[in-house]
Amino acid sequence: MLKKTGLVMIAFLLVILTACSSSSGSSSKKTIVMGTSADYPPFESVDTAHGNQIVGFDLDMAKYIANQLGYNLQIKNQDFSGLIAALNSKQVDFVMAGMVDTPAREKQVDFSKTYYESYQVVLTRKDSNIKSVADLKGKNVGVQLGSTQAALAQKLNKTIPMHVQTWDKVNEMVAALQAKRLDAIITVDTVAYGYTNKDKSLEQLKIVLNGKTQADPISVAFPKNSKLKAQFDKVLQKMKTNGKEAQLVNKWIKNQ
Ligand code: ARG
Repeated sequence: MLKKTGLVMIAFLLVILTACSSSSGSSSKKTIVMGTSADYPPFESVDTAHGNQIVGFDLDMAKYIANQLGYNLQIKNQDFSGLIAALNSKQVDFVMAGMVDTPAREKQVDFSKTYYESYQVVLTRKDSNIKSVADLKGKNVGVQLGSTQAALAQKLNKTIPMHVQTWDKVNEMVAALQAKRLDAIITVDTVAYGYTNKDKSLEQLKIVLNGKTQADPISVAFPKNSKLKAQFDKVLQKMKTNGKEAQLVNKWIKNQ
């Protein structure tokens, strides 16, 4: 009799323990949705060798931030040019997509502190005879729709007339460059390194205008007045001092 009561009590305790752990576990956490455009390694890309998971620097940054803040993280992959609209229509809670904080975008969305600085480059084939920005004259130059590179190409086009082509996906644009359907693309050094390291027929030229390199300061974007901005900024600041940011920069950017 005593034994039986003991067992019943243990079973009862187990039920309580399970209930407690599931209420503090992932199921009761709030989920935040990240919008991204997984065509931009090492920031984000589809890992075709491992079940088409989306991986990259932005993903690991976001996972760490969400974890620190006690949120579950869900990823929504879409074309880059639709990300601001996805924020405005609240389809996503934030965007991490190697996205640059620009005055034009600031009219529509809020940005975190800058968490990485890239530089605009021309990515071209070594056999293309393009050795400077001026050599883009008359060439087929690819840029991603809605990107800061598309804006830069329009600006350059005024003095160096070129055939600017806008593409939805950066990885597909690089494939077109390798297949000689494009002469050059404008992207950032961080992305270009991943390709030039693997394909020795490609090279990159840093874009210098009036003696200045063209920075692409990358930030997290939020819908206007989102309370997530302050929460993210706090963790981003912490990641600078606790070594986590440096660890992820080494993992994804320095070692690509
Ligand atoms: N840095 C550029 C911008 O903000 C391009 C970013 C592209 N990102 C991507 N995931 N495809 O406009």
